[in-house]
Amino acid sequence: MIKFLDLQKINLVHQEEIEKRILDTFRSGWYLLGNEAKNFEDNLANYIGAKHAIGVANGLDALRLILRAYIELGIMQKGDEIIVPANTYIASVLAISDNGLVPVLVEPDNNTFNIDSAKIEEKITPKTKGIMIVHLYGRVIFSQELKNLAEKYQLKTIEDNAQAIGAQYEGVNTGNLGDASGFSFYPGKNLGALGDAGAVTTNDEELAKTIRALANYGSNQKYVNTFQGLNSRLDEIQAAALDVKLKYIDAENQRRKDIARRYISEIKNPDIILPELPKDEKEHVWHLFVIRTQEREKLQNFFTENGVQTLIHYPIPPHKQGAYQEMNHLSFPITEKIHDEVLSLPISPVMTDEDVSHIIGIINKI
Ligand SMILES: Cc1ncc(COP(=O)(O)O)c(C=O)c1O
Repeated sequence: MIKFLDLQKINLVHQEEIEKRILDTFRSGWYLLGNEAKNFEDNLANYIGAKHAIGVANGLDALRLILRAYIELGIMQKGDEIIVPANTYIASVLAISDNGLVPVLVEPDNNTFNIDSAKIEEKITPKTKGIMIVHLYGRVIFSQELKNLAEKYQLKTIEDNAQAIGAQYEGVNTGNLGDASGFSFYPGKNLGALGDAGAVTTNDEELAKTIRALANYGSNQKYVNTFQGLNSRLDEIQAAALDVKLKYIDAENQRRKDIARRYISEIKNPDIILPELPKDEKEHVWHLFVIRTQEREKLQNFFTENGVQTLIHYPIPPHKQGAYQEMNHLSFPITEKIHDEVLSLPISPVMTDEDVSHIIGIINKI
C-alpha cells in the first residue's frame, strides 16, 4: 500500500538526531520558554530572512495572534474587514472571525488555486485593513500588483504560510513577503513537528513583541500583564525536533519538486487536469499535488483498489460550512467547482521512484 503520507518513514529518516535532542531536552528538566525554543526561533528567522520569529502552539494561533496584535496596537479594530481567499483551509478564515474581524472572500485563479489578485480591489471598502494571502498547496501567491494594492490602500499583508515553507518569490522566502506570516508545523506539513506547533515571522519589532506577550498570558515580564493574552507557546520538545528537521527542509522540498515534475510530465490522461508547474520552480514546494477531474469518486476508488491512498483538500469550502451560516448563501462558483473536483495524490520526500511510477501507471490506465 502506498500511504498518502508516511509520517513514520518521514521522521525515522532523522531518528538518531531527533531522539538525541529530545532525550537531552527531557533530561534538562526545562520544558517551556527555554533554549530549544529560542534556538529554533533564531534558526527559523535566519532561514526565512525575517528579523523575528516567535514560536507558538499551532498554525491557527499564529494567524489569530497576528491579527489580535494588530488590534492591540490600534491598527485594526473589531468589525474591520480582512480580504481572504474563498479557496483555502478554514483555519485562515477562523483566525479572522475569531478576532471579531470580518472575512471578505475572494475567488481563486482557476490555474493556480490561489487568490485572484485581479478580483481583490473590487472588494476593498473603507473598512478593509488587511489581506491574508494563503500560499495554498505550497505555491507562492505574490506579485508587484498585490504589493501595490496593499500600499495604495494601506493594508497589512498577512501570509498564511502553513503550506509553503521554503518557497521563494524573486529570491524572497514566503514568510518574508508581507508584514507578518503564520506557519503551521502540524505533523503532516513540509516541516512537521511531532504534535502541534506553529510560528510567526515578521520584521516589525513592535508587532513581534506584542505577539510574544499575547502568546504568554499577555506578559513580557513575569506577573506583569500588559494584555488579556492567551497561552500559546512552542514547547521545548517540539522545538528540538523542528530544529533538526529545519536543516533538511530544502533537500526534502527538492524531492517533492522532482516528484511533481515527474507526475506532470508522465501523467497522460485526458480526463485529468494537472496542476501548473510555475515558471520558476522555486515558487512551489508541493505540499500537496492536487489534480482535478470530473470523475473524482471513480478515480479515488480505482486508486484505493490498487493500493494507493488519496485525499481531498478540501471537500467543503469555508463559506458552505455550518460554522459560517451567515456566508452559506454566498456564491463562489470557481471555489465550489474546485472543491468538487480536486484529488490529492501522494507526494513526500520519502516516496521512492517505484512508488511514483506505480501511481503514474494507475492513473494512465483508467
Ligand atoms: C492553509 C492553512 N492555514 C492554517 C492552518 C492551521 O494550522 P494548524 O493546524 O497548525 O493550526 C493549516 C493547517 O492545518 C493550513 O493548511
